[in-house]
Amino acid sequence: MRSLRNQSYRIVAIPGEGIGPEVVEASLKVLQQVANLEGFTLNVDYGWLGATALEKFGSYFPQVTAELCNGSDGIVFGAVTQGGLLELRKHYDFFCNLRPIRIVDSLVHKSSLRPEKIKGLDILVIRELVSGIYFGSAARGSDEKGAYGYHTMLYYDHEIRRIARQALGKAQQRRGKLTVAHKENALPNLPWTRLVQEEATAFPDVVVEPMLVDNLAMQMVMNPQRFDVILASNLFGDILSDIGGALVCSLGLLGSASLNGDGFGLYEAIHGTAPDIAGKGIANPLGTIGACVLMLEQWGEKRAAQRIMAAQDRVLAQGYRTADLSPQGEEILVNTEQLIQLLLEEIYNLQNLEIEVLHESYQ
Ligand code: NAI
Ligand code: MG
Repeated sequence: MRSLRNQSYRIVAIPGEGIGPEVVEASLKVLQQVANLEGFTLNVDYGWLGATALEKFGSYFPQVTAELCNGSDGIVFGAVTQGGLLELRKHYDFFCNLRPIRIVDSLVHKSSLRPEKIKGLDILVIRELVSGIYFGSAARGSDEKGAYGYHTMLYYDHEIRRIARQALGKAQQRRGKLTVAHKENALPNLPWTRLVQEEATAFPDVVVEPMLVDNLAMQMVMNPQRFDVILASNLFGDILSDIGGALVCSLGLLGSASLNGDGFGLYEAIHGTAPDIAGKGIANPLGTIGACVLMLEQWGEKRAAQRIMAAQDRVLAQGYRTADLSPQGEEILVNTEQLIQLLLEEIYNLQNLEIEVLHESYQ
């Protein structure tokens, strides 16, 4: 994957709907702040996708959005209710979706699980993103037995092999363990285990652990610290990573990077439009900010990434919480804008040394 380290970057921001525009705007302020401090320029174009794109251009994924994204250094995305996102992912072949699930120390006691089950949690879920059941042939029909519908879970072996190589590479850089989610007792024509094991011969230092996905879902709740990298198909990865949201206290905390073979990427939180809180200014922006951190890392802007992560940890350690983190006792309830102001101050105040000491683990 390419490292783009540059003096100037152009990104396309696609706010979308619901809380999408709120969390994208918040994240752009943080990106601009680190760009100023680290001495690079960030140019932002705005694109459309989903319902707002349909209204304005007559298409969920209009040509004008594709033209903006072409040649950019990354896409920062909010969320949409329906339409456009699968097409965008497919169009750029963003097959490799990285979803880090890390617990922040000061939130350990707020998890759904006991602190000893969650302390130090650091899992990387890798989800195949452009194939499988979300892209297989699908229809509704009817016959003499009644109306029916179907979606087909189809994977070419080469699609499984290429995501396997990415996952094995990541496991090699981390703790050397790769758990493969599969369902071969019921779906034997999708032999994830064999294909990943064949690719693993080129990664002799990685231990491959196949696991039936239903057991894996249980293990993520019973004993999440046992996992290092989890590789999953599109559907399984979608579902398993939301469990990650519960483990780290809120879905609003998790970000993701979706990369193609050239290292070009789409960066978004793993949550959706959150219609129940949209427009109230209370969404947690840290998932989208986390996605932007992954973008900075992909560019090779490690210090900028570390600055944001260190600032986030400090703000949370001081007890500031958005509503999804259910503040109690000494903790202080803040809205999106207040959290961003606190983050901007911390990012500014951090000295170089502190960034390095606080965030060796993000390198
Ligand atoms: P959701 O992720 O939007 O919300 C689930 C719950 O988590 C809600 O209670 C919401 O308030 C809360 N939540 C999510 N993000 C939050 C944040 N940043 N701060 C605070 N609380 C947060 O999932 P839901 O309700 O299942 O879907 C809503 C819509 O979003 C649907 O139309 C769905 O299709 C769409 N969606 C879009 C995605 C995308 O654009 N990538 C991904 C997932 C869902
Ligand atoms: Mg999802």
